Amino acid sequence: MNGVVLISGNGSNLQSIIDKASSIDLTICCVISNKTDAFGLKRATKVGIPCEAIDEALFDSKHSFDQELIKVINNYQAEVIILAGYMRILSAHFISKYFGKILNIHPSLLPKFKGLNTHQRAIDALEKKHGASVHFVTEELDGGPVIAQDFVRIDSTDNAQTLAKKVLDKEHALYPKTIHWYTQGRLKLINKNTVTLDNKTL
Ligand code: GRF
Repeated sequence: MNGVVLISGNGSNLQSIIDKASSIDLTICCVISNKTDAFGLKRATKVGIPCEAIDEALFDSKHSFDQELIKVINNYQAEVIILAGYMRILSAHFISKYFGKILNIHPSLLPKFKGLNTHQRAIDALEKKHGASVHFVTEELDGGPVIAQDFVRIDSTDNAQTLAKKVLDKEHALYPKTIHWYTQGRLKLINKNTVTLDNKTL
């Protein structure tokens, strides 16, 4: 399956997807960043994957930026849109256009800690467990139905950085596995609250 990966920064999740692409039936047809200096663009270039940087500073509205994004995605005939550290909120128009085709990974055990700074917030809330969630993207920010999660223990010595590292290690295994379910046609977003794997509600 042809998929586009959207990034904004380091791209370690992108790297894990690149490394496993052939075993998860995915052809990364393009990597798109909203930041021209995203390190993930270098990772993709190194292995010959086409890259597009759409400089968000050049667009005066979310709508015009997303129109450009749609144009690029359609040029590459992407069948799945994989958000991997893409730090920009998508427009309602974009989300409805690709409903059921957009996956995201979020660094918390959703529905806990939607939004930013999830690691520090989990520590501050005295959580014992933290982790990552892969979900379908719907209009509610970090609110689409969860497909899969993995967790780590929060130790008394953890800070936001050590916790982020532990969670990222889990993400690098969890995301490719979940993407594979999608490329195999086993995952379906039925409506904004319901996802199925092999026709069974998750
Ligand atoms: C990850 O923690 C991901 O869950 C979140 O942003 C971070 C991106 O890291 N959405 P990287 O760019 O993949 O290294």
